[in-house]
Amino acid sequence: MTLILGLNAYHADSSACILRDGVLVAAAEEERFRRIKHWAGLPVEAVRYCLAEAGARLEDVDHVAINRDPKANVLRKVLFAFKQRPSLALVRDRLANAAKVGSPLDELARALEVPRGRLRARLHPVEHHLAHLASAFFVSPFEEAAVVSIDGFGDFLSAMWGTGRGNEIVVEGRVYFPHSLGLFYQAVTQYLGFWSYGDEYKVMGFAPYGRPTRMAEMERIVRLLPDGGYELGLDFFRHHAEGVEMTWRGGYPDVGRIFTPALEDLLGPARAKDEPLTERHADIAASAQAMYERALFHLLDVVQRTTGLDRLCLAGGCALNSVANGKLYRRTRFRRLYMPPAAGDAGGAIGAAYVVWHRELGRPRGFVMDRAGWGPGWSDAELARFVEERRAAIEGEGCRIAQAADDADLVARVAEAIAEGAVVGWFQGRMEWGPRALGHRSILADPRRPDMKDVLNLKIKRRESFRPFAPAILRERVAEWFEEEDDVPFMMQVFQVRPERRARVPATTHVDGSGRLQTVTRAANPRYYDLIAAFERRTGVPMVLNTSFNENEPIVCRPEEALDCFLRTKMDLLVLGRTIVARAS
Ligand SMILES: [Fe+2]
Repeated sequence: MTLILGLNAYHADSSACILRDGVLVAAAEEERFRRIKHWAGLPVEAVRYCLAEAGARLEDVDHVAINRDPKANVLRKVLFAFKQRPSLALVRDRLANAAKVGSPLDELARALEVPRGRLRARLHPVEHHLAHLASAFFVSPFEEAAVVSIDGFGDFLSAMWGTGRGNEIVVEGRVYFPHSLGLFYQAVTQYLGFWSYGDEYKVMGFAPYGRPTRMAEMERIVRLLPDGGYELGLDFFRHHAEGVEMTWRGGYPDVGRIFTPALEDLLGPARAKDEPLTERHADIAASAQAMYERALFHLLDVVQRTTGLDRLCLAGGCALNSVANGKLYRRTRFRRLYMPPAAGDAGGAIGAAYVVWHRELGRPRGFVMDRAGWGPGWSDAELARFVEERRAAIEGEGCRIAQAADDADLVARVAEAIAEGAVVGWFQGRMEWGPRALGHRSILADPRRPDMKDVLNLKIKRRESFRPFAPAILRERVAEWFEEEDDVPFMMQVFQVRPERRARVPATTHVDGSGRLQTVTRAANPRYYDLIAAFERRTGVPMVLNTSFNENEPIVCRPEEALDCFLRTKMDLLVLGRTIVARAS
């Protein structure tokens, strides 16, 4: 038996996974255990969980793979240092960070209190973007596919592409530091007043309120190259000359200002955090999204033509741009797409682990990631026991506890509650891997109610009013409700809702008529599927509104966090396995 532990460490969205003989056993992000969003550092709690799920000790692990290789692209780094003469502080920060990456085995041994001498695992640093490519291709159903990774930066690159075939990946192109589409999008995100790590999705959600009227300016910021790559107008960016401060306050990644005053000369004054959003801001968001799409499809076009393949595996932080992904079949000649649920840096843990299994150990393919529940889970009986233990506190809040007789009874009751306007916390099976709630740790509601967005924001989410909520739809109904037809199990593509259907589901249809759908199959998640089917029988609508089970914290992991979130907010129903907790209205 071969055990491989995969890590994304010393980086935002730190995570761990474990493979047993090439089969994924468990994967989780550290933020879910530490309860701090995007937690960056060594994922000790995620490692502890993965080992427990595999019934193994750290001493039993044969290989530890990490999605960073400080030795990668060294020549490029040296050349850059000579040409650009970056500040000493920038060089010092990078060296300090690189030194940490060298010793995860020592640190893991210390954290798990295992004498270092007892570890037999070999450490494998895997280049960041190769791990991204592998995180998609090696767990995809494709024997052969074009592979593309795009992000901010990792190991001095911001993009890598090539061909995946069997257990090999051949790299055919790269974009080097300081040029980066991820950084471009992040700079505009900051410029628009969104400064938290990972706020790019807010710009993506806001863009449909504007028109791409600033493309001439965008073309000065991003220039497309004939080889499929791109260059940044470096006058607008600080990262290459001064460096961008990156601090981890208590594990939370904090990124300093990326853009220079030249960007404000070009686009006008940047928006302050609390300043109202105007049409000018919306037009800039729309233009940045359009520029990103132009660059993405330019690259994908070149990759499609050079590989001649019509299947694509996509990963890297930019692959979370589900709006762009949703246009892929219209704007390129690719005909099938696979993306893993954790397309961003967390997913690098799985990519690194599979690089070891396939490329270094030469083992054949055999595992496909077709579902997202790879985290901690509790049985129905455990969840019933947990609620029983907390009965006094629950009833003290005026809530009632009930047990469903069986699954049919459960989904009938919950579907009825949703149809009557209840907001439901839905806690089932193993926690999702990746940033999206996909029916394991979800809040569900009725997509037909025009006021449901406001209700959710009032009761729980308190998020920006421009951000849309997503529909989860029965797989076989997609073509009846959307203008595209595809599997979207991990909510990675936004499609247009058919115009005649939009008024039926106002709560999950964005201002531009789109919806960031999740397609649900019975094979992947039977109880979730049956619930949506029960909702369809009552209402004629084969979808529910699905949003992540949390307030402004990482998605809930344990039943304790779900119950606390339920009691703290104004959710109407909490469903833990087959146990139903109802707030008295
Ligand atoms: Fe990355």
